[in-house]
Amino acid sequence: MGEMKELQTDLAQVIRLALAEQSEDIRLFVARLVRKYRNIDPELAEQMDLCLRTKHNKTRSPLRKVMNPPVSDQTLPIDDESRLSLLKVFKDTADRERPLLSNDLEETLNQLIQERLQTERLAALGLLPTRSAIFVGQPGVGKTVTARWLAAKLKVPLYVLDLTAVMSSLLGRSGSNLRAALDFAKRTPCVLLLDEIDAIAKRRSDDSDIGELKRLVTVILQEVDEWPATGLLLAATNHPELIDTALWRRFDLVIEFKSPDMPAVKEAVKRFLGPDYALFGRWVDILAFAFNGETYSDIERDIQRFRRAVALGSTSDADLIEEFVKSRASTLDHPARIDLAALLAKQTRLSQYTIRDITGVSRDTIRKYAASKPAAPKKTAERKPDK
Ligand SMILES: Nc1ncnc2c1ncn2[C@@H]1O[C@H](COP(=O)(O)OP(=O)(O)OP(=O)(O)O)[C@@H](O)[C@H]1O
Ligand SMILES: [Mg+2]
Repeated sequence: MGEMKELQTDLAQVIRLALAEQSEDIRLFVARLVRKYRNIDPELAEQMDLCLRTKHNKTRSPLRKVMNPPVSDQTLPIDDESRLSLLKVFKDTADRERPLLSNDLEETLNQLIQERLQTERLAALGLLPTRSAIFVGQPGVGKTVTARWLAAKLKVPLYVLDLTAVMSSLLGRSGSNLRAALDFAKRTPCVLLLDEIDAIAKRRSDDSDIGELKRLVTVILQEVDEWPATGLLLAATNHPELIDTALWRRFDLVIEFKSPDMPAVKEAVKRFLGPDYALFGRWVDILAFAFNGETYSDIERDIQRFRRAVALGSTSDADLIEEFVKSRASTLDHPARIDLAALLAKQTRLSQYTIRDITGVSRDTIRKYAASKPAAPKKTAERKPDK
């Protein structure tokens, strides 16, 4: 009787997946059933296995499907009112530069990629790859660039749900817009990113809540639950505290993007300097110190500014950095300014007067700390580099 009940449950699941046209999920599920029924009902298991193999020869495997997106795109869904596309499309090549990631983050993402590249191995053990993940972190730490990189690695497009377009429509239409966008993404091998999900996924208890938002949350709740294993559903937020708890626990993975620590800041400085590294290289430690606590996008923006100014010859690298470090020093507390002063004394030949001017630390203190440090390196701060 127990076996009968289980059979019924399995049959119901197959029907559910079939009606939702989640054919790759059916394959994965049936592969699991083959293993399960091998001992209980070998004949049934064999029949299912046969179906699986026959179908397998006709269609592409989940892996191939993931790796080879269809040549021509289906038409992207649009908002009927504004005629705006509901999804932004990014198609990057697999050699897209890897974002700067902490070791933990890199490990998590590598596993996510490997799961998708080895879906059949997982299926043989009755496992599905991670279907959904939510990226959490303040603005400018790499949530969107990482989604692009992931999609590029998986050789599928990244679709980003444009919430402005979804919600720009008349009241009552955003639910159907959202569904149209999600349905499209479910039919296509892709990574779908629901960016700034907090905008729609506000807690349902929120005072400002209206029926419309509730409906959107309900749609998303269902979709995250039913997302096919052939696609990867990502969401991103700067406001985890605003996310509905029911939605929160539906994601397979919560991935935290932290602001870079000092070694990561240094790496970022090097990367963003690009070909100008040779020119600014001697400032790297000082820049890393000054940028500590900033996000990647802030660091990138300032470094681009330096590079542009030097490229136009409007100022020297030394003057630029001095001015920048001075403005950063004013935001630091006294112990940090002493550290900065010591670093400047150690790494540059700036005079103690200049260092005092930059950091606000007295010359006596600079002398004391500089004396306990090794001698300054040979490169000077006030000399323009040889071109
Ligand atoms: N980890 C990173 N590695 C390399 N570049 C980064 C990284 N994080 C941010 N950047 C740079 O900053 C820019 C903004 O990053 P991104 O759009 O990914 O931030 P975000 O976390 O999605 O922010 P928001 O919450 O505002 O959407 C990127 O275009 C990139 O140039
Ligand atoms: Mg973003």
